[in-house]
Amino acid sequence: MVKRAGGALLLGLRLDRGSDRSVSLRLCQEMRRLILNGDLQPGERLPSSRTLARELGVSRTTSLTAFDQLIAEGLLEARVGSGTYVSAALTANRPVAPRDEPGAPAPDKMEARLARAVASASENFFRRLSHPEKPCAFVTGMPAVDEFPMAQWSRLMAKHFRGPRSLVTGYCEAEGFFPLRRAIAAHLRANRGISCEPEEVFIVNGAQQAFNVIAGLTLDPGDKVWFENPGGIGGRNSLIAAGAELIPAPVDADGLVVADAWRRAPDFRMAFVTPSHQQPLGSTMSLERRLELLRAAAEARAWIVEDDYDGEFHYSGRPLPTVKSVDKTERVFYVGTFSKTLFPALRLGFFIAPPAMIPVVQRFFNATLQGAPTCIQGVVADFIEEGHFATHIRRMRRLYAERHEVFQAAARRWFDGALDVLRTDSGFQTTGWLTGGVSAQAVAAAAAARGVVVSPVEKFCLEPIADEGLVLGFSSIPEKEIARGAAALAQVLEDPALRAA
Ligand SMILES: Cc1ncc(COP(=O)(O)O)c(C=O)c1O
Repeated sequence: MVKRAGGALLLGLRLDRGSDRSVSLRLCQEMRRLILNGDLQPGERLPSSRTLARELGVSRTTSLTAFDQLIAEGLLEARVGSGTYVSAALTANRPVAPRDEPGAPAPDKMEARLARAVASASENFFRRLSHPEKPCAFVTGMPAVDEFPMAQWSRLMAKHFRGPRSLVTGYCEAEGFFPLRRAIAAHLRANRGISCEPEEVFIVNGAQQAFNVIAGLTLDPGDKVWFENPGGIGGRNSLIAAGAELIPAPVDADGLVVADAWRRAPDFRMAFVTPSHQQPLGSTMSLERRLELLRAAAEARAWIVEDDYDGEFHYSGRPLPTVKSVDKTERVFYVGTFSKTLFPALRLGFFIAPPAMIPVVQRFFNATLQGAPTCIQGVVADFIEEGHFATHIRRMRRLYAERHEVFQAAARRWFDGALDVLRTDSGFQTTGWLTGGVSAQAVAAAAAARGVVVSPVEKFCLEPIADEGLVLGFSSIPEKEIARGAAALAQVLEDPALRAA
């Protein structure tokens, strides 16, 4: 038992010797913990810095530094000629740790208080599919980052970081760096049939942020949203977080079946669609369906969110126009992302707001968002305006078409009736339907054990669909890995235990 003043301090101190932080910092943190926990009471006298140093086997400078820091924070007070005390001011104001409250749960069991929309729906959030660094068969949604023109990119990065200080260090224009908004508008006019002005384009940290912003600005909790079933996971999560009621809308070879969705919820407030390349099944929404969707939205006074995540990668013929490009109702939010055209770590995307929403979005961005780093936006703007972007997309379109063919050939060779793989004419992935009542979850688990990533279609479903299927990515995967993955997946599919299950 330590009898002298500050005994509790010396007894309670736990200085972790293995830590790489300085001793004075650790001592300071420990003393702060004891004071805030109440182990050291307000008004309690501490041992002198000399005694503390001796007892702990640290230098006097170390104990003095810790004392000085805590005096500066107001947790300790030095009384001339008398010593150092735990601040008396803490008597009334000491923060109470949860375990100090009678009947309180242990700190690690504490539950955060959540917003109602999130608390009631958090079970329904789904994790995005993971993206391992090494291209692994058959990861979905990733561009071929190994083929990215890093030399050109690095040159532009260096140029921008040597550029005007204000652009490197200051706040960005909230709606986005104007040269990038201008470059995107020109690119969309030339390539996606969308005639828009730079002022209609808003820069965000990836399409995911666009979904969050749009849902937050247009939906009240309980509003009905037509959502493709199966459909994208990120968009679904943003809508759930906004408290929307998701109405599963069936999809067929022409995209979202508008008549079915209308029967389920004619009073919808929003339709969320991936018309260029339905996520995850890969169909392209026919022009007739697009017009039907626009008519339905006009009648219900609903918004449409068009997620054009990989619409640039159409392998043959001309892609269909975007919904935005044929929209006369001014109800479409068009969302694009650089995650697919460049690379996802950029965290850069954009959306075009319908005219009535532009002032609202401007106010919202200025009040609550400060955008993406100006320099990086400048690099992307130059990359587009100097023509590298168009060249890169053309190259990737050819590469993905080739990889798709390699994948189809491997599927013919290896899957032989066990997995009916669809051809696709665009995008990063395709679907394989399992035959013979095999469970997609069981295949995914067995494939993972062999280092192959396949994603059950049901992960993308709001309500079950009739068939068991797998989503299979090919865009980021070199030929050799496609061959390895197909052979490994074939072994899984041949396992009689799967069929018995
Ligand atoms: C359907 C869909 N939309 C958009 C995105 C892009 O999201 P972000 O721009 O936030 O990376 C993805 C990414 O996986 C996606 O699958």
